[in-house]
Amino acid sequence: MDKSSLIYPLFVKEGTGIEEEIPSMEGQFRYSVDRLPFELERLQNAGVNSIMLFGIPDHKDEVGSGAYDPNGIVQKALREAKKQFPDMYYITDVCMCEYTSHGHCGVLCGHDVNNDATLELLAKTAVSHVEAGADMVAPSDMMDGRVRAIREALDANGHYGAPIMSYAVKYASAFYGPFRDAAGSAPSFGDRKSYQMDFRTHDQGLDEIAADIEEGADWTMVKPAMPYLDMIARGVEKFPNIPMVAYQVSGEYSMLKAAAKLGYLDESRVAFESLIAIKRAGAQYIITYYAKEIIEKAEEWNIKIG
Ligand code: PBG
Repeated sequence: MDKSSLIYPLFVKEGTGIEEEIPSMEGQFRYSVDRLPFELERLQNAGVNSIMLFGIPDHKDEVGSGAYDPNGIVQKALREAKKQFPDMYYITDVCMCEYTSHGHCGVLCGHDVNNDATLELLAKTAVSHVEAGADMVAPSDMMDGRVRAIREALDANGHYGAPIMSYAVKYASAFYGPFRDAAGSAPSFGDRKSYQMDFRTHDQGLDEIAADIEEGADWTMVKPAMPYLDMIARGVEKFPNIPMVAYQVSGEYSMLKAAAKLGYLDESRVAFESLIAIKRAGAQYIITYYAKEIIEKAEEWNIKIG
């Protein structure tokens, strides 16, 4: 495992002087834009060079307009961060759930998510992220056809070189629980099963990767990571030419943290072992809340990281 294979998720929110710990994710914080540079400096000093940005807006509405507002929280954070830390690699999560009043990942038609009407808004969001400084966009909404819609919109706006990391193999998982607390993005009714994948399916994840590559995805992802190591391995085997990313999600992180706190598990060992298992399955990159800690504590935890 080396530092360059780790991507650190970061939450930015409106306001000033905010650096608040997320209760269900010990050691993870929400930052206001003015506090973000301090954290970026710590990350850079540790040797974490890629981050994944999530935005927490003040204002939510039916159509998630904060997601594609040129002055939205992620756009503002990107402009500031890029100015101060131009060498960091900025990936943004492209989704509506943090920005919609109902908490679904797309716009609604009655009580259903309207897939096709959402595509245009996701594409607008991706373009606005790239124009604010994102190096790569990562759609996590799971609407069908979003990769193509985003690719076409990026190209139409002259951003031919902006790559897309697709959350291709993303399950409707209870392991996202702590994240939804962190981002205030739990759906106010129903669930995400009409757009995220059923975890009982055997091959659908591979079909999703194939479709996303066909639509223009540059990198692909399996999420969550540890309960789905089989899908990482099968994805890499079937599509060896596209970088595979695994997302060790909030629930995976919080489980280890909680068990360590209770003295049930040795954190240094389980954190390392879980990341190595994800690498062994074939992930080239890992998005993990442990990225910073594991590097900072490598010596204390007796871990070798290149
Ligand atoms: C947005 C999104 C989610 C996560 C990443 N992007 C939540 C969800 O789909 O409900 C989860 C990340 C984590 O649990 O760490 N759609």
